[in-house]
Amino acid sequence: NEDQFKKVISHAKEYGYVFQSSEIYDGLSAVYDYAQNGAELKKNIRDYWWRAMVQMNENIVGIDAAILMHPTTWKASGHVDAFNDPLIDNKDSKKRYRADVLVEDYCLKIENKIEKEVKKAEKRFGDAFNKEEFVSTNGRVVGYQEKIDSILKRLGQSLEKEDLADVKALIEELEIADPLTGSKNWTDVKQFNLMFGTKLGASAESAMDLYLRPETAQGIFVNFLNVQKTGRMKIPFGIAQTGKAFRNEIVARQFIFRMREFEQMEMQFFIKPGTQKEWFEYWKETRMKWHLSLGMGEENYRFHDHEKLAHYADAATDIEFRFPFGFKELEGIHSRTDFDLKQHEEFSGKKLQYFDQEDKESYTPYVLETSIGLDRMFLAVFSNALMEEELEDGKTRTVLKLPAVLAPTKAAVFPLLAKDGLPEVAKQIVEDLRWDFNVIYEEKDTVGKRYRRQDAAGTPFCITVDHDTLEDNMVTIRHRDTMEQQRVKIEDLKDIIKKEVDV
Ligand code: GAP
Repeated sequence: NEDQFKKVISHAKEYGYVFQSSEIYDGLSAVYDYAQNGAELKKNIRDYWWRAMVQMNENIVGIDAAILMHPTTWKASGHVDAFNDPLIDNKDSKKRYRADVLVEDYCLKIENKIEKEVKKAEKRFGDAFNKEEFVSTNGRVVGYQEKIDSILKRLGQSLEKEDLADVKALIEELEIADPLTGSKNWTDVKQFNLMFGTKLGASAESAMDLYLRPETAQGIFVNFLNVQKTGRMKIPFGIAQTGKAFRNEIVARQFIFRMREFEQMEMQFFIKPGTQKEWFEYWKETRMKWHLSLGMGEENYRFHDHEKLAHYADAATDIEFRFPFGFKELEGIHSRTDFDLKQHEEFSGKKLQYFDQEDKESYTPYVLETSIGLDRMFLAVFSNALMEEELEDGKTRTVLKLPAVLAPTKAAVFPLLAKDGLPEVAKQIVEDLRWDFNVIYEEKDTVGKRYRRQDAAGTPFCITVDHDTLEDNMVTIRHRDTMEQQRVKIEDLKDIIKKEVDV
């Protein structure tokens, strides 16, 4: 819900995860900076993905293509003609919105209202409450729920030119108002290209118009044959990459869910035509397993299969995650056929074919794509981890239960007191553990306060050196999630932490 989302945003700032870009100049909308802890979390997510995709698969290799590409790339890919968002302006407020998001947000709000109504009734009728009966006898709830389900399903697909008038009609029918001003005076829905333009070259006459890439995928397609030949890759094989992408998104206040500058982690898997159905199922399952391996709760994921497909796809599904504002797309899995390679063949005049040694035939491979937003994954991990817990003594604690493998700092080491030789021992432990993990030293405030701070920052372990340590070489290790404390040998610390933070 909205309150939880606000907490996520302020916690991300307070604990050094995400800052607004150029904040001292009042920021830049839908652009964010990752701070000291955020950069580590982001890197750990990227590494976790890279390990699963590249390191663990003999037939997948990684590349790092440039953000700037030859402008013809984007003609071939279809982005110049078809990479548009449906926009609508409010004639009174002069504010501009993404028409589909306007409808979607409205529907979600109504959905929340319905949920509240159901909860209220649940409270009132207690055990006697039967949700199905309540919903089926309450016409208003049923009518809305069905309508909203069908609208959301439709908007989840890619919108074509013909759909624009329908979206406008929907906005009028639902009497959706400008969220800021309440005005219902809308223009028609127009298409708006999302690519950022830039120029290459010094003089005005010779400068070449370029685009900042709106997806990393095209850097892989244009390198397909280079990688296949130099890597002696045999089909089926994949090329993976992570990197920045840019889209001139017209939508505000979604924090790092929808950004203008963001990072993608994509993998294109090149296959023999005719095998795309099996590979689609394979990658659907494999990617879902990857998500579940982080232990963030099976109930927080679902597939959303597309019925209406983008111009390049013959099957597509989203892995959706339960964000604080509802289930939304986290990753896309697309069966892209030979659309991209064929387009690049046509526009470049170069053959991008594979010679199958066994079958002694050449063909243009089909492509199965997995594409996930790193920032969106960051938001999923971060928002899922942030919780407030009631403690036995009636107090609450704020704790960021990040999967240990992703946590920016694995352990914080404290001297119980900042004297009597305890800091020296604690600092030595930091120096020894530093070779294997990110660890920090802290001596300010009481140990209780230091625990709370590390809980909120997401550090899975706290290690405390006390006077007994000087005698027995043992320390207290405290686990963030259970708050359990154990007395362990200093020399065992590395293995204890490793067991939790290794994949
Ligand atoms: N190559 C296919 C492709 O780019 P997409 O569905 O447009 O497909 C893939 O994007 C993923 O990239 C999305 O599932 C989402 O996680 C992420 N993504 C897309 N636009 C984004 C944005 N503006 N901000 C953050 N992440 C975004």
